[in-house]
Amino acid sequence: MRSEYCGLVSRGHLQQTITVYGWVHRRRDHGGVIFIDLRDREGLLQVVCDPDNPATFRIAESLRNEFVVRVTGKVRPRPDGTVNANLVSGEIEVLAGEIEILNPSLTPPFMMDDDNLSENVRLEYRFLDLRRPQMQKNLRLRYKTAMAVRVFLDQHGFIDIETPMLTRSTPEGARDYLVPSRVHPGEFFALPQSPQLFKQLLMVSGFDRYYQIVKCFRDEDLRADRQPEFTQIDIETSFMNQLEITNLMEELIVSVFKSVLDVDLPQPFPRMQYADAMALYGSDKPDLRVSLKLTELTDAMKGVAFKVFSAPANAPGGRVAGLLIPKGGELTRGEIDAYTEFVGVYGARGLAYIKFNEIAKGRDGMQSPIVKNLSDDALKVIVERSGARDGDLMFFGAGTAKVVNDALGALRVKIGHEKGYAQKGWQPLWVLDFPMFEWDEEGKRWNAMHHPFTAPLDGHEDFLDSDPGQAVAKAHDMVLNGWEIGGGSIRIHHQDVQSKVFRALNISAEDAEAKFGFLLQALQYGAPPHGGVAFGLDRIVTLMTGSESIRDVIAFPKTQRAQCLLTKAPNTVDEQQLRELHIRLRQAETKKA
Ligand code: AMO
Repeated sequence: MRSEYCGLVSRGHLQQTITVYGWVHRRRDHGGVIFIDLRDREGLLQVVCDPDNPATFRIAESLRNEFVVRVTGKVRPRPDGTVNANLVSGEIEVLAGEIEILNPSLTPPFMMDDDNLSENVRLEYRFLDLRRPQMQKNLRLRYKTAMAVRVFLDQHGFIDIETPMLTRSTPEGARDYLVPSRVHPGEFFALPQSPQLFKQLLMVSGFDRYYQIVKCFRDEDLRADRQPEFTQIDIETSFMNQLEITNLMEELIVSVFKSVLDVDLPQPFPRMQYADAMALYGSDKPDLRVSLKLTELTDAMKGVAFKVFSAPANAPGGRVAGLLIPKGGELTRGEIDAYTEFVGVYGARGLAYIKFNEIAKGRDGMQSPIVKNLSDDALKVIVERSGARDGDLMFFGAGTAKVVNDALGALRVKIGHEKGYAQKGWQPLWVLDFPMFEWDEEGKRWNAMHHPFTAPLDGHEDFLDSDPGQAVAKAHDMVLNGWEIGGGSIRIHHQDVQSKVFRALNISAEDAEAKFGFLLQALQYGAPPHGGVAFGLDRIVTLMTGSESIRDVIAFPKTQRAQCLLTKAPNTVDEQQLRELHIRLRQAETKKA
């Protein structure tokens, strides 16, 4: 029987005979004595093998990295000068009495304490990668976070109810993962993009406070903060208004950070309107650790000779804005070129700038090729609105509001963190008052900015028919350090309003009936006012662990190309399986042809 975890053996065990199980982290031969660093989930333990015990010594000689063994031996103090203050077991060692090899190991493709590994190799050998202390730490912190969520929600009367994985499409803005039905030829289930409609139905059923820690599936372009299969902390309540819901959800996140990290998040979280977030930060998920802000210049550039600014300033949906960098005059040509390339990724066609050498001298104190094309009035507005001082530099963005916001918003965060304009610590906030809809230029139609079940602000219902672009939603996103960690809203609980929203989205009455008939029906049977939120568990844990990618907090994640390198999924299936599912592959047909 194991008497201790390796990593927990300490001074309290001195002189005791213990039995531990673990993996050989490293074997060191020191002139006749062999040292084994034995590793288990709790950490390392130094095992000493003495030639005086020839049977054990012979086994020790044959040990290689990652062999899994049982060791029985006596705990003794480490000799003076060899104490390791970084380990719980750093003051002691175990003199091996008996070693049993439970299973040898092939030579692993990497060392468990190597931090410079190719992610592909890590994902291919994920079962070994997960042995690494950092990954063990990440997954345990993830578990503690989920537990803290459950404890808080349980204490506040929420109950966990499971909702189906085989269901029909729930529109959250991504493509669905489809599952063919064998029993119903030509028909498909969709894996849920979220349990949105089911949690609303549970409110109609009277459960009042629901939660679920649940997998969601979205076939969308992947980034460092996105996985095709991810986990939501999904929450819904009845009879609470937006302020009450957001306050309670804020308490949840505060209590989780306190119990898991012993961090006191700054409270109350600031509440920012969507329009202000876009105007000041160019983003609906502003990183408030960065002090830099955008300066609005659209109005001031309408009349200037410089077409690059005046054209978008006069165009509908255009924007001209500046990003003032204090002491930015020190930026090198090379750095400015690199920033120009950086904003290019967001569609910006250049990155104009002005260096303010000596503002008192007016335009002569400003260094830039564009100054000669800007009026004195425009230059004055630039200086006054931004509060520019001698030695500062302003970057400019001009174009569609989307390109300007994306480019300057990202540049703000990049320069902020690279050049020391960012504080350390945690900066949470709520972003509120999102537009109900965003215009899809390609499809020439309105799309729901959150999802189509989001309620409009009181008094905005009429806009749904008359001017959808004006309608503001009772939606709320929680943002932490520039990441959207949660999103939700008050929902529509009147059938006629829901139908209006479908109309605004160009969904015909027949289509609405076919796809969402069950919802429209449920809303007519005493649906209570309700609302909620869903947090991205993976994202929260990524931030808490300081990981670079959400893949580092998921046991078996997919790559950026939505594949599992370990199991090699997705993969082809037998012709027989396809036949049962009534599927014939187009690709196979083309090949044959
Ligand atoms: P939303 O689509 O905003 O809302 O999702 C909620 C939260 O889930 C996380 N998230 C993701 N995390 C990892 N990979 C992804 N691909 C991914 N997509 C989203 C984010 C996000 O804030 N049904 C609504 C919630 C509601 O209205 O209650 C919904 O799903 O952290």
